[in-house]
Amino acid sequence: MSPDVPHRRQLVLVMVGLPARGKTYTARKLARYLNWRGYATRVFNVGNYRRRDVGAQKPANFFDPKNPAGLEARTRVAMEALDDLLAWMAQGGLVGIYDATNSTRARRELVLARLEAAGLRVVFVESVCNDTSVIEANIRGTKLRSPDYKGVDPDEAVADFRRRIAFYEDAYEPLEDPDLSWVKIVDLGRQVVVNRIQGYLPSRLVYFLMNLHTVERRIWLTRHGQSLANVAGCLGGDSGLSPLGERYAARLGEFLAERAGDERVPVWTSTLRRTIQTASALHLPSSPWRALDEIDAGKCDGLTYDEFHRRYPDDFASRKADKLRFRYPRGESYQDVVRRVEPVIVEIERQRRPLMIVAHQAVLRALYGYFLDKAPESVPHLDVPLHTVIELTPHAYGASERRFFLGPSVEHEPSWNEASSS
Ligand code: F6P
Repeated sequence: MSPDVPHRRQLVLVMVGLPARGKTYTARKLARYLNWRGYATRVFNVGNYRRRDVGAQKPANFFDPKNPAGLEARTRVAMEALDDLLAWMAQGGLVGIYDATNSTRARRELVLARLEAAGLRVVFVESVCNDTSVIEANIRGTKLRSPDYKGVDPDEAVADFRRRIAFYEDAYEPLEDPDLSWVKIVDLGRQVVVNRIQGYLPSRLVYFLMNLHTVERRIWLTRHGQSLANVAGCLGGDSGLSPLGERYAARLGEFLAERAGDERVPVWTSTLRRTIQTASALHLPSSPWRALDEIDAGKCDGLTYDEFHRRYPDDFASRKADKLRFRYPRGESYQDVVRRVEPVIVEIERQRRPLMIVAHQAVLRALYGYFLDKAPESVPHLDVPLHTVIELTPHAYGASERRFFLGPSVEHEPSWNEASSS
Protein backbone atom coordinates (compact mmCIF):
# COMPACT_ATOMS: atom_id res chain seq x y z
CA MET A 1 0.00 0.00 0.00
CA SER A 2 1.37 3.42 -0.78
CA PRO A 3 1.88 5.62 2.28
CA ASP A 4 -0.73 8.27 2.97
CA VAL A 5 1.50 11.26 2.30
CA PRO A 6 4.13 11.53 -0.41
CA HIS A 7 7.25 10.09 1.08
CA ARG A 8 10.33 12.25 0.95
CA ARG A 9 13.17 10.51 2.73
CA GLN A 10 13.54 7.09 4.22
CA LEU A 11 13.60 7.05 7.97
CA VAL A 12 15.48 4.99 10.53
CA LEU A 13 14.33 4.83 14.13
CA VAL A 14 17.16 3.93 16.47
CA MET A 15 15.97 2.58 19.81
CA VAL A 16 17.91 3.55 22.94
CA GLY A 17 17.65 2.35 26.51
CA LEU A 18 18.61 -0.14 29.18
CA PRO A 19 17.38 -3.73 28.94
CA ALA A 20 13.75 -4.37 30.01
CA ARG A 21 12.64 -0.80 29.32
CA GLY A 22 10.11 -1.74 26.65
CA LYS A 23 12.24 -0.99 23.57
CA THR A 24 11.14 -4.08 21.69
CA TYR A 25 7.54 -3.48 22.70
CA THR A 26 7.74 0.07 21.34
CA ALA A 27 9.64 -0.98 18.21
CA ARG A 28 7.07 -3.61 17.34
CA LYS A 29 4.15 -1.30 18.01
CA LEU A 30 5.68 1.32 15.74
CA ALA A 31 6.31 -1.26 13.04
CA ARG A 32 2.74 -2.56 13.20
CA TYR A 33 1.32 0.94 13.03
CA LEU A 34 3.56 1.98 10.16
CA ASN A 35 3.03 -1.17 8.10
CA TRP A 36 -0.70 -0.85 8.59
CA ARG A 37 -0.52 2.71 7.29
CA GLY A 38 1.34 1.52 4.23
CA TYR A 39 4.93 2.39 5.14
CA ALA A 40 7.06 -0.70 4.52
CA THR A 41 8.72 -1.06 7.92
CA ARG A 42 10.95 -3.69 9.45
CA VAL A 43 12.48 -4.17 12.90
CA PHE A 44 16.10 -5.33 13.15
CA ASN A 45 16.54 -6.72 16.65
CA VAL A 46 20.19 -7.08 17.62
CA GLY A 47 19.30 -9.57 20.39
CA ASN A 48 18.10 -11.99 17.72
CA TYR A 49 21.41 -11.69 15.86
CA ARG A 50 23.32 -12.32 19.11
CA ARG A 51 21.22 -15.42 19.85
CA ARG A 52 21.74 -16.70 16.30
CA ASP A 53 25.50 -16.02 16.12
CA VAL A 54 26.85 -16.54 19.61
CA GLY A 55 24.10 -18.57 21.28
CA ALA A 56 21.17 -17.59 23.46
CA GLN A 57 22.29 -18.55 26.92
CA LYS A 58 25.07 -16.19 27.83
CA PRO A 59 25.83 -15.43 31.47
CA ALA A 60 25.42 -11.84 32.65
CA ASN A 61 29.18 -11.12 32.49
CA PHE A 62 29.06 -11.55 28.71
CA PHE A 63 27.45 -8.06 28.83
CA ASP A 64 30.15 -6.58 31.07
CA PRO A 65 31.61 -3.60 29.15
CA LYS A 66 35.00 -4.59 30.58
CA ASN A 67 34.79 -8.07 29.05
CA PRO A 68 36.71 -7.62 25.74
CA ALA A 69 35.49 -10.85 24.13
CA GLY A 70 31.87 -10.05 25.00
CA LEU A 71 32.24 -6.49 23.76
CA GLU A 72 33.78 -7.63 20.50
CA ALA A 73 31.02 -10.19 19.89
CA ARG A 74 28.28 -7.71 20.78
CA THR A 75 29.70 -5.05 18.47
CA ARG A 76 30.00 -7.59 15.66
CA VAL A 77 26.37 -8.71 15.86
CA ALA A 78 25.20 -5.09 16.20
CA MET A 79 26.99 -4.23 12.96
CA GLU A 80 25.57 -7.29 11.22
CA ALA A 81 22.05 -6.17 12.09
CA LEU A 82 22.87 -2.67 10.89
CA ASP A 83 24.26 -4.04 7.60
CA ASP A 84 21.00 -5.92 7.08
CA LEU A 85 18.97 -2.83 7.87
CA LEU A 86 21.00 -0.81 5.36
CA ALA A 87 20.61 -3.53 2.71
CA TRP A 88 16.87 -3.62 3.28
CA MET A 89 16.58 0.15 3.04
CA ALA A 90 18.62 0.06 -0.18
CA GLN A 91 16.00 -2.30 -1.59
CA GLY A 92 13.27 0.26 -0.92
CA GLY A 93 12.23 -0.23 2.71
CA LEU A 94 10.71 3.02 3.97
CA VAL A 95 11.25 2.79 7.72
CA GLY A 96 13.91 0.66 9.42
CA ILE A 97 13.80 0.21 13.17
CA TYR A 98 17.12 -0.62 14.80
CA ASP A 99 16.23 -2.33 18.05
CA ALA A 100 19.21 -2.50 20.41
CA THR A 101 20.28 -0.81 23.63
CA ASN A 102 22.50 1.73 21.80
CA SER A 103 23.17 2.92 25.30
CA THR A 104 26.52 4.64 24.86
CA ARG A 105 27.29 7.80 22.96
CA ALA A 106 30.11 6.04 21.09
CA ARG A 107 27.76 3.34 19.79
CA ARG A 108 25.15 5.88 18.73
CA GLU A 109 27.76 7.94 16.89
CA LEU A 110 28.93 4.85 15.03
CA VAL A 111 25.37 3.91 14.05
CA LEU A 112 24.46 7.47 13.09
CA ALA A 113 27.56 7.89 10.91
CA ARG A 114 26.71 4.78 8.91
CA LEU A 115 23.05 5.70 8.49
CA GLU A 116 23.78 9.28 7.49
CA ALA A 117 26.40 8.12 5.01
CA ALA A 118 23.59 6.18 3.34
CA GLY A 119 21.51 9.39 3.16
CA LEU A 120 18.96 8.22 5.73
CA ARG A 121 17.06 10.39 8.15
CA VAL A 122 17.53 9.24 11.76
CA VAL A 123 15.36 9.68 14.83
CA PHE A 124 16.42 8.17 18.16
CA VAL A 125 13.67 6.76 20.37
CA GLU A 126 14.75 6.37 23.98
CA SER A 127 12.75 4.47 26.52
CA VAL A 128 13.47 5.45 30.12
CA CYS A 129 11.84 3.68 33.02
CA ASN A 130 12.68 4.14 36.66
CA ASP A 131 9.66 2.38 38.05
CA THR A 132 11.02 -0.87 39.49
CA SER A 133 7.61 -2.56 39.45
CA VAL A 134 7.32 -1.95 35.68
CA ILE A 135 10.85 -3.25 35.09
CA GLU A 136 10.15 -6.32 37.20
CA ALA A 137 6.87 -6.95 35.33
CA ASN A 138 8.68 -6.60 32.03
CA ILE A 139 11.42 -9.05 33.06
CA ARG A 140 8.88 -11.58 34.26
CA GLY A 141 6.44 -10.98 31.39
CA THR A 142 8.81 -11.08 28.42
CA LYS A 143 12.42 -11.87 29.31
CA LEU A 144 11.74 -15.12 31.13
CA ARG A 145 9.98 -16.39 28.01
CA SER A 146 12.95 -15.51 25.83
CA PRO A 147 15.30 -18.24 24.58
CA ASP A 148 17.98 -16.57 26.76
CA TYR A 149 16.39 -18.20 29.80
CA LYS A 150 14.82 -21.35 28.40
CA GLY A 151 14.82 -24.04 31.09
CA VAL A 152 16.35 -21.70 33.71
CA ASP A 153 14.74 -21.41 37.14
CA PRO A 154 12.66 -18.15 37.06
CA ASP A 155 14.23 -16.62 40.19
CA GLU A 156 17.72 -17.43 38.96
CA ALA A 157 16.84 -15.94 35.56
CA VAL A 158 15.55 -12.73 37.14
CA ALA A 159 18.72 -12.41 39.25
CA ASP A 160 20.90 -12.98 36.16
CA PHE A 161 18.92 -10.45 34.14
CA ARG A 162 19.31 -7.88 36.91
CA ARG A 163 23.09 -8.42 36.81
CA ARG A 164 22.96 -7.92 33.05
CA ILE A 165 21.09 -4.64 33.50
CA ALA A 166 23.63 -3.50 36.09
CA PHE A 167 26.45 -3.94 33.55
CA TYR A 168 24.57 -1.77 31.08
CA GLU A 169 23.84 0.80 33.77
CA ASP A 170 27.58 1.23 34.38
CA ALA A 171 28.11 2.41 30.82
CA TYR A 172 24.71 4.03 30.07
CA GLU A 173 24.70 7.56 28.67
CA PRO A 174 21.14 8.86 28.18
CA LEU A 175 20.28 10.90 25.10
CA GLU A 176 21.07 14.55 25.62
CA ASP A 177 22.60 15.76 22.38
CA PRO A 178 20.69 18.93 21.37
CA ASP A 179 21.75 18.55 17.72
CA LEU A 180 20.17 15.14 17.20
CA SER A 181 16.57 14.33 16.48
CA TRP A 182 15.09 12.31 19.35
CA VAL A 183 12.10 11.44 21.44
CA LYS A 184 12.41 10.23 25.00
CA ILE A 185 9.53 8.33 26.58
CA VAL A 186 9.69 8.34 30.36
CA ASP A 187 7.82 5.81 32.49
CA LEU A 188 5.56 4.51 29.71
CA GLY A 189 4.48 7.92 28.47
CA ARG A 190 4.11 9.72 31.82
CA GLN A 191 6.46 12.21 30.24
CA VAL A 192 7.49 12.54 26.60
CA VAL A 193 10.41 14.81 25.70
CA VAL A 194 11.08 15.67 22.08
CA ASN A 195 14.07 17.30 20.48
CA ARG A 196 14.34 18.44 16.87
CA ILE A 197 11.40 16.40 15.66
CA GLN A 198 10.52 17.69 12.22
CA GLY A 199 8.35 16.58 9.36
CA TYR A 200 5.05 14.79 9.02
CA LEU A 201 5.98 11.22 9.83
CA PRO A 202 8.23 11.81 12.89
CA SER A 203 5.55 14.11 14.33
CA ARG A 204 2.83 11.51 13.80
CA LEU A 205 5.01 8.90 15.44
CA VAL A 206 5.52 11.09 18.50
CA TYR A 207 1.75 11.54 18.74
CA PHE A 208 1.28 7.79 18.48
CA LEU A 209 3.94 7.11 21.12
CA MET A 210 2.34 9.60 23.49
CA ASN A 211 -0.80 7.49 23.56
CA LEU A 212 0.68 4.06 24.23
CA HIS A 213 0.36 2.23 27.52
CA THR A 214 0.55 -1.36 28.68
CA VAL A 215 -2.62 -1.63 30.75
CA GLU A 216 -4.38 -4.83 29.70
CA ARG A 217 -8.01 -4.39 28.68
CA ARG A 218 -10.44 -5.98 26.28
CA ILE A 219 -11.77 -4.47 23.09
CA TRP A 220 -14.92 -5.91 21.58
CA LEU A 221 -15.53 -5.40 17.88
CA THR A 222 -18.83 -6.21 16.29
CA ARG A 223 -20.80 -5.35 13.21
CA HIS A 224 -24.31 -4.03 13.69
CA GLY A 225 -27.13 -6.56 13.73
CA GLN A 226 -28.42 -7.64 10.33
CA SER A 227 -29.84 -4.58 8.56
CA LEU A 228 -32.63 -4.34 5.99
CA ALA A 229 -29.94 -3.58 3.40
CA ASN A 230 -28.16 -6.81 4.40
CA VAL A 231 -31.41 -8.71 3.81
CA ALA A 232 -31.72 -7.15 0.37
CA GLY A 233 -28.00 -7.74 -0.31
CA CYS A 234 -27.40 -4.03 -0.99
CA LEU A 235 -24.21 -2.09 -0.40
CA GLY A 236 -24.12 0.84 1.99
CA GLY A 237 -27.27 2.83 2.63
CA ASP A 238 -28.60 3.83 6.01
CA SER A 239 -31.28 1.28 6.79
CA GLY A 240 -32.40 0.13 10.21
CA LEU A 241 -32.20 -3.39 11.62
CA SER A 242 -34.15 -6.41 10.42
CA PRO A 243 -36.03 -8.50 13.04
CA LEU A 244 -32.98 -10.83 13.18
CA GLY A 245 -30.73 -7.82 13.65
CA GLU A 246 -32.86 -6.64 16.56
CA ARG A 247 -32.53 -10.06 18.17
CA TYR A 248 -28.77 -9.84 17.80
CA ALA A 249 -28.76 -6.43 19.49
CA ALA A 250 -30.59 -7.90 22.48
CA ARG A 251 -28.14 -10.80 22.67
CA LEU A 252 -25.24 -8.42 22.45
CA GLY A 253 -26.61 -6.64 25.53
CA GLU A 254 -26.70 -9.92 27.46
CA PHE A 255 -23.23 -10.88 26.24
CA LEU A 256 -21.68 -7.62 27.36
CA ALA A 257 -23.40 -7.69 30.73
CA GLU A 258 -21.98 -11.15 31.28
CA ARG A 259 -18.44 -10.48 30.00
CA ALA A 260 -17.96 -7.01 31.47
CA GLY A 261 -19.76 -7.50 34.79
CA ASP A 262 -20.19 -4.21 36.62
CA GLU A 263 -17.83 -2.30 34.37
CA ARG A 264 -19.56 0.51 32.46
CA VAL A 265 -18.14 -0.05 29.02
CA PRO A 266 -18.01 2.91 26.66
CA VAL A 267 -19.58 2.09 23.30
CA TRP A 268 -18.48 3.65 20.03
CA THR A 269 -20.66 3.45 16.96
CA SER A 270 -20.68 4.97 13.50
CA THR A 271 -23.18 7.71 12.67
CA LEU A 272 -25.35 5.24 10.72
CA ARG A 273 -28.69 4.03 12.01
CA ARG A 274 -27.90 0.33 12.07
CA THR A 275 -24.99 0.70 14.51
CA ILE A 276 -26.77 3.23 16.73
CA GLN A 277 -29.83 0.99 16.89
CA THR A 278 -27.66 -2.03 17.77
CA ALA A 279 -25.84 -0.10 20.49
CA SER A 280 -29.06 1.23 22.01
CA ALA A 281 -29.83 -2.28 23.25
CA LEU A 282 -26.70 -2.10 25.42
CA HIS A 283 -28.11 0.72 27.58
CA LEU A 284 -24.68 2.25 27.94
CA PRO A 285 -23.36 5.67 27.01
CA SER A 286 -22.36 5.57 23.35
CA SER A 287 -20.52 7.97 21.05
CA PRO A 288 -21.08 8.12 17.31
CA TRP A 289 -17.94 8.50 15.18
CA ARG A 290 -18.17 9.63 11.60
CA ALA A 291 -14.80 7.96 11.07
CA LEU A 292 -16.45 4.60 11.78
CA ASP A 293 -19.04 4.90 8.97
CA GLU A 294 -18.98 2.08 6.43
CA ILE A 295 -16.83 2.34 3.29
CA ASP A 296 -18.49 4.81 0.94
CA ALA A 297 -19.52 2.84 -2.15
CA GLY A 298 -20.06 6.08 -4.12
CA LYS A 299 -22.10 5.53 -7.24
CA CYS A 300 -22.60 1.88 -6.23
CA ASP A 301 -24.27 2.72 -2.93
CA GLY A 302 -27.59 0.90 -2.73
CA LEU A 303 -26.76 -1.64 -5.46
CA THR A 304 -26.39 -5.37 -4.97
CA TYR A 305 -23.09 -6.95 -6.01
CA ASP A 306 -24.87 -8.38 -9.09
CA GLU A 307 -26.18 -4.95 -10.09
CA PHE A 308 -22.73 -3.49 -9.55
CA HIS A 309 -21.31 -6.19 -11.85
CA ARG A 310 -23.88 -5.66 -14.58
CA ARG A 311 -23.94 -1.86 -14.56
CA TYR A 312 -20.26 -1.16 -14.10
CA PRO A 313 -18.33 -4.19 -15.36
CA ASP A 314 -15.04 -2.28 -15.70
CA ASP A 315 -15.17 -0.99 -12.13
CA PHE A 316 -16.15 -4.43 -10.95
CA ALA A 317 -13.11 -5.91 -12.72
CA SER A 318 -10.83 -3.23 -11.27
CA ARG A 319 -12.05 -3.98 -7.77
CA LYS A 320 -11.51 -7.67 -8.35
CA ALA A 321 -7.94 -6.98 -9.50
CA ASP A 322 -7.07 -4.76 -6.53
CA LYS A 323 -9.61 -4.58 -3.76
CA LEU A 324 -7.28 -2.64 -1.45
CA ARG A 325 -6.69 0.27 -3.83
CA PHE A 326 -9.90 0.30 -5.84
CA ARG A 327 -11.78 3.51 -5.07
CA TYR A 328 -15.50 3.48 -5.79
CA PRO A 329 -16.22 6.39 -8.15
CA ARG A 330 -17.31 9.26 -5.89
CA GLY A 331 -16.60 6.97 -2.95
CA GLU A 332 -13.72 5.35 -1.10
CA SER A 333 -11.14 2.57 -1.27
CA TYR A 334 -9.97 0.37 1.60
CA GLN A 335 -6.82 2.49 1.68
CA ASP A 336 -9.04 5.52 2.23
CA VAL A 337 -10.82 3.70 5.04
CA VAL A 338 -7.49 2.88 6.75
CA ARG A 339 -6.55 6.56 6.62
CA ARG A 340 -9.94 7.60 7.90
CA VAL A 341 -9.86 5.29 10.91
CA GLU A 342 -6.28 6.15 11.92
CA PRO A 343 -7.39 8.69 14.57
CA VAL A 344 -9.73 6.03 15.97
CA ILE A 345 -6.79 3.65 16.32
CA VAL A 346 -4.79 6.20 18.30
CA GLU A 347 -7.82 6.87 20.48
CA ILE A 348 -8.31 3.13 21.09
CA GLU A 349 -4.63 2.84 22.04
CA ARG A 350 -5.14 5.64 24.56
CA GLN A 351 -8.10 3.97 26.29
CA ARG A 352 -7.30 2.08 29.46
CA ARG A 353 -10.80 0.73 30.02
CA PRO A 354 -12.61 -1.97 28.06
CA LEU A 355 -14.31 -0.72 24.97
CA MET A 356 -17.06 -1.90 22.63
CA ILE A 357 -17.09 -0.82 18.99
CA VAL A 358 -20.20 -1.40 16.91
CA ALA A 359 -19.38 -0.66 13.29
CA HIS A 360 -19.33 -2.17 9.81
CA GLN A 361 -17.63 -4.85 7.76
CA ALA A 362 -15.00 -2.80 5.90
CA VAL A 363 -14.23 -0.49 8.80
CA LEU A 364 -13.83 -3.38 11.22
CA ARG A 365 -11.54 -5.15 8.77
CA ALA A 366 -9.32 -2.07 8.91
CA LEU A 367 -9.31 -1.96 12.75
CA TYR A 368 -8.85 -5.70 13.13
CA GLY A 369 -6.02 -5.67 10.57
CA TYR A 370 -4.15 -3.20 12.76
CA PHE A 371 -4.50 -5.19 15.98
CA LEU A 372 -3.66 -8.54 14.40
CA ASP A 373 -0.82 -7.12 12.28
CA LYS A 374 -2.34 -8.24 8.99
CA ALA A 375 -0.63 -7.47 5.69
CA PRO A 376 -2.39 -4.49 4.04
CA GLU A 377 -3.29 -6.58 0.96
CA SER A 378 -5.18 -9.06 3.14
CA VAL A 379 -7.26 -6.44 4.98
CA PRO A 380 -10.15 -6.21 2.45
CA HIS A 381 -10.59 -9.98 2.62
CA LEU A 382 -10.61 -10.52 6.39
CA ASP A 383 -13.48 -12.50 7.82
CA VAL A 384 -15.79 -10.27 9.87
CA PRO A 385 -19.17 -12.01 9.87
CA LEU A 386 -22.50 -10.70 11.13
CA HIS A 387 -23.73 -11.55 14.64
CA THR A 388 -20.25 -12.31 15.91
CA VAL A 389 -18.24 -10.48 18.56
CA ILE A 390 -14.47 -10.39 18.20
CA GLU A 391 -12.82 -9.96 21.59
CA LEU A 392 -9.28 -8.61 21.38
CA THR A 393 -6.85 -8.39 24.27
CA PRO A 394 -3.78 -6.42 23.26
CA HIS A 395 -0.60 -7.55 25.01
CA ALA A 396 3.12 -6.87 24.85
CA TYR A 397 3.82 -8.15 21.36
CA GLY A 398 0.41 -8.30 19.64
CA ALA A 399 -3.16 -9.16 20.57
CA SER A 400 -5.01 -12.34 21.38
CA GLU A 401 -8.41 -12.97 19.92
CA ARG A 402 -11.60 -14.84 20.77
CA ARG A 403 -14.71 -14.95 18.64
CA PHE A 404 -18.24 -15.38 19.97
CA PHE A 405 -21.00 -16.19 17.56
CA LEU A 406 -24.13 -14.95 19.32
CA GLY A 407 -26.68 -15.66 16.59
CA PRO A 408 -29.33 -15.69 15.39
CA SER A 409 -27.97 -17.36 12.26
CA VAL A 410 -28.25 -15.32 9.13
CA GLU A 411 -29.22 -17.63 6.35
CA HIS A 412 -26.96 -16.15 3.77
CA GLU A 413 -25.06 -12.93 3.50
CA PRO A 414 -24.13 -12.02 -0.08
CA SER A 415 -20.40 -11.40 -0.10
CA TRP A 416 -17.95 -9.74 -2.41
CA ASN A 417 -15.86 -12.94 -2.64
CA GLU A 418 -18.75 -14.95 -3.91
CA ALA A 419 -19.82 -12.21 -6.35
CA SER A 420 -16.35 -11.64 -7.73
CA SER A 421 -15.60 -15.31 -8.31
CA SER A 422 -18.71 -15.83 -10.45
O1 F6P B 1 -22.66 -5.74 2.68
C1 F6P B 1 -22.44 -5.05 3.86
C2 F6P B 1 -21.30 -4.08 3.72
O2 F6P B 1 -21.08 -3.49 4.96
C3 F6P B 1 -21.53 -2.99 2.65
O3 F6P B 1 -22.22 -1.86 3.11
C4 F6P B 1 -20.12 -2.70 2.21
O4 F6P B 1 -20.06 -2.03 0.97
C5 F6P B 1 -19.54 -4.08 2.20
O5 F6P B 1 -20.12 -4.76 3.29
C6 F6P B 1 -18.03 -4.10 2.36
O6 F6P B 1 -17.56 -5.41 2.06
P1 F6P B 1 -16.75 -5.68 0.71
O7 F6P B 1 -15.63 -4.69 0.74
O8 F6P B 1 -16.28 -7.10 0.84
O9 F6P B 1 -17.66 -5.46 -0.46
